[in-house]
Amino acid sequence: KNETLDLLAHEERIRAELLDSFDEELEEEIDDQRLAKLLDNAAEQPEISGLDRTLYFKELFRLQRELVKLQDWIATNKKKAVVIFEGRDAAGKGGVIKRVTQRLNPRVCRVVALPAPSEREKSQWYFQRYAPHLPAGGELVLFDRSWYNRAGVERVMGFCTEDEVEEFFRSVADFERMLVRSGITLIKYWFSISDSEQHFRFQMRIHDPLKQWKLSPMDLQSRVRWEAYTKAKESMLERTHIAEAPWWVVEADDKKRARLNCIAHLLSQFPYEEVQRPLAELPPRVHNPDYIREPI
Ligand code: ADP
Ligand code: AMP
Ligand code: MLT
Repeated sequence: KNETLDLLAHEERIRAELLDSFDEELEEEIDDQRLAKLLDNAAEQPEISGLDRTLYFKELFRLQRELVKLQDWIATNKKKAVVIFEGRDAAGKGGVIKRVTQRLNPRVCRVVALPAPSEREKSQWYFQRYAPHLPAGGELVLFDRSWYNRAGVERVMGFCTEDEVEEFFRSVADFERMLVRSGITLIKYWFSISDSEQHFRFQMRIHDPLKQWKLSPMDLQSRVRWEAYTKAKESMLERTHIAEAPWWVVEADDKKRARLNCIAHLLSQFPYEEVQRPLAELPPRVHNPDYIREPI
């Protein structure tokens, strides 16, 4: 009798774990919708994703299961990969990165989001402060912004000289080719959002206590200097699009589609296959096939 109760409790626990998994995603989504309503300016508000929620979650979880296989493949075969996420402020880079890492082992897949350079770092070779974060065998490194700051924010905000920008353009292709020749897979994404969508997302940041930390003085400047950023982006994409490491532009006005599209594309860039290993046997007391079922 006690055993039956134990097993029922166990089943309940499994259900709770699965729901918890959904909740993490839902929390973020509900939060977005609540704010859209709070703002109370439906006219100004760009369309919320037309993607059906159930379909979105199903596809996200399918992709996340694939990411786990990719992680296994990278770890087992000691592969090295770098993914660069660039784009205007509030383009949704952080949101995609969060969902890529959500189910992965932080020892295999880690995020690099460097702060503004210190005085000491400013005196170094420009690429120097990025180099220590490059992957060893068996690692996937996601850059939330990258050395491309020099061609973007630093250039537009005047944090460096035009000579330094030119020097960056002279060297970046060679730098990246060296990485690729050393065995790194290098993938570069540009998240593209429209003027009105950026405006809307900044409004959300201003009004939401949970999002205010995201709003920086740089963000406000990026509204004022929209055109300068456009020019900087155009010359950056044009001058740094190389065969060894091409740019991929992600249409990002629709956040959910952007996430799914980007993750699906990322997966397509690796010839990974599932690492086969025997199913672990659970200790006898727990091992009862009747209580293991398909998740949904
Ligand atoms: P994010 O949008 O990544 O959350 P910010 O909008 O505050 O962060 O800043 C954008 C980028 O500009 C960051 O990568 C930051 O390191 C860089 N940055 C900010 N101030 C400086 C500076 N004085 N010199 C160089 N880079 C800077
Ligand atoms: P290109 O000559 O193709 O490299 O394009 C450079 C463009 O970037 C110029 O036309 C500038 O208008 C623009 N730009 C944006 N920010 C800056 C900046 N801080 N300094 C110089 N040019 C800038
Ligand atoms: C950005 O793109 O600036 C943010 O990292 C993305 C977001 O979470 O809005």
